[in-house]
Amino acid sequence: MCGIIGYMGSQAAAPVIMHGLKMLEYRGYDSAGICTMDDGTAEIRRSAGKLAHLERLIKDNPISGTIGIGHTRWATHGKATVANAHPHKSGSVVVVHNGIIENYLALKEELSDRGHTFVSETDSEVISHLIDEKYKTAGSFEEAVRTALKDLQGAYALCVLSQKDDKTLIAAKLGSPMVIGIKGNEYFIASDMPAIISNTREMVIMEDGEMAVFRDGGVKFSTIDGEEITKNSRFIDWSPLKAEKNGYPNFMLKEIHDQPQAVRNVIAGRLREDEGDVFFEALNLSDTELNSFERVCMVACGTSWHAALAGKYLIEEHCRIPVDVEIASEFRYRDPLVSGKTLVIPISQSGETADTLAALREAKSKYAHIVSICNVIDSSIPRESDGVIYTHAGLEIGVASTKAFTTQLVALYLLTIRLGRAKGSIDLKKGQEMIAALSELPDLIKKTLELDPQIEEIACEYLTSWDAIFLGRGICYPIALEGALKLKEISYIHADGYPAGEMKHGPIALVDREMPVFILAPNDRHLVKVRSNMEEIISRGGKAIAFCSEGDLETGRRAECSLLIPWAGEALSSVLFTVALQLLAYNFAILKGKDVDQPRNLAKSVTVE
Ligand code: AGP
Repeated sequence: MCGIIGYMGSQAAAPVIMHGLKMLEYRGYDSAGICTMDDGTAEIRRSAGKLAHLERLIKDNPISGTIGIGHTRWATHGKATVANAHPHKSGSVVVVHNGIIENYLALKEELSDRGHTFVSETDSEVISHLIDEKYKTAGSFEEAVRTALKDLQGAYALCVLSQKDDKTLIAAKLGSPMVIGIKGNEYFIASDMPAIISNTREMVIMEDGEMAVFRDGGVKFSTIDGEEITKNSRFIDWSPLKAEKNGYPNFMLKEIHDQPQAVRNVIAGRLREDEGDVFFEALNLSDTELNSFERVCMVACGTSWHAALAGKYLIEEHCRIPVDVEIASEFRYRDPLVSGKTLVIPISQSGETADTLAALREAKSKYAHIVSICNVIDSSIPRESDGVIYTHAGLEIGVASTKAFTTQLVALYLLTIRLGRAKGSIDLKKGQEMIAALSELPDLIKKTLELDPQIEEIACEYLTSWDAIFLGRGICYPIALEGALKLKEISYIHADGYPAGEMKHGPIALVDREMPVFILAPNDRHLVKVRSNMEEIISRGGKAIAFCSEGDLETGRRAECSLLIPWAGEALSSVLFTVALQLLAYNFAILKGKDVDQPRNLAKSVTVE
């Protein structure tokens, strides 16, 4: 999983590629590399670690040429070393690759027998050797690439150069995303549009099994089987968002503080107060069609999966329709029971998560109707959906998702209203009440953000902990999962989330004087039960920290320490509890001196399975 860039034109290639790589660093930052072709010589620079290392290397050892390729890596096969960094070179052939070659071991063995020496542990290196091998007998560079691709199993988006045909760049795609920007005789290849949109707005979206050969200021599109095809470009009319910290020390804190505005954005223009209803620009479903679904099935990964779980609580309660929530990576491999009567909702911040995209395609192949909830406009998931609800959270750079999650929660709340109104399970008055509750939310998020000093004190108090547990009931159960995930991701403290009532069925054995147990106890219908669960922790000598609702002075009294969070009603208080838990994880990580924006081993968007 990685980001790839290619450029051919009249400008110096290196700065264009480095800019693109910077935009793609969210896809991985274990290592990075670049190759420019200069008079038949492939100039390669690679470095382990973040892109800044490669930038320094290029500054010290500049490269030139107007054609080149680049790569930023999230390690799948082989450690984050220079040897494993792309581009990979064999003979005259240089390759950057995003995806996984599943038959690489067999290919490696075969190529080794033919005398090829491998210098990395990656699956990707076989591609350069394979093309190099095919080139020995093929009539052209293009033919060598084409025949090599036929032997590859797995997923790829790749760019290939050759020293023997130094005026040609070849790109191909199967399973991993690729777009091509065109500006006169200049071509920009990338894993996504934002990486190249500052260069051009004319984009061609590559489909699986397609190849593009750039030569002499022109491009020829074909299928991998060699059939020439015509591809039309489309004009991209949205503007790229700027990555700016606005005075915050890092993107994560900025994005946590963006949330009042992000929530305003997801709501903007969608409320029909008088009708107690919601309008979506691209849902593309009439009331009759909405009514015709027998089930809803949500598919997602990580934080987005937590949002889906929260959505199940909302939709089942208010719309009285069964909702299944599936981990996308499991969904596609078990012949899922979906049909034309199922509304499938993939949820994704990036819109590029490979597992979620694969789940979408699986559901589509079974004739399900797909409405995605997504943040990144025109990314692969919305492009392949029948309808889309954009969350409009703005650019999220921090690897740990914050505003993307809370806007997903709000988007699901809006969808609940729409679906409930269409089905008649939410009447006019109820719809109006649900909408009215939303109008307070941005200010209540602001109030929650003001709790930061108290939250920092809690983090200080439990800073030496190795483990933590988060408990919640009802819609706060997925919020507990999300709180645990945030803490794990950025502070590297092991944490688990459980339904509070489940604790006694096993995890309570972990309770001791060391491990903090964060108890989410909003003033909702579950409060009495959650209090009992808290007592079960306390009576076993556990460290209970209660997150309660403003006005509830009772619950916190029994805990070791507590925090009072504003009340926004049962459904929307989940957003405020999330904000408090984001700040908790953030403070733990900062006090421990961790890099919150780019935590170890992670990538913002996981584009391999
Ligand atoms: C969240 O903090 C994560 N970094 C991760 O779990 C993420 O939510 C997951 O990879 C799904 O990403 P998506 O929403 O872009 O599909």
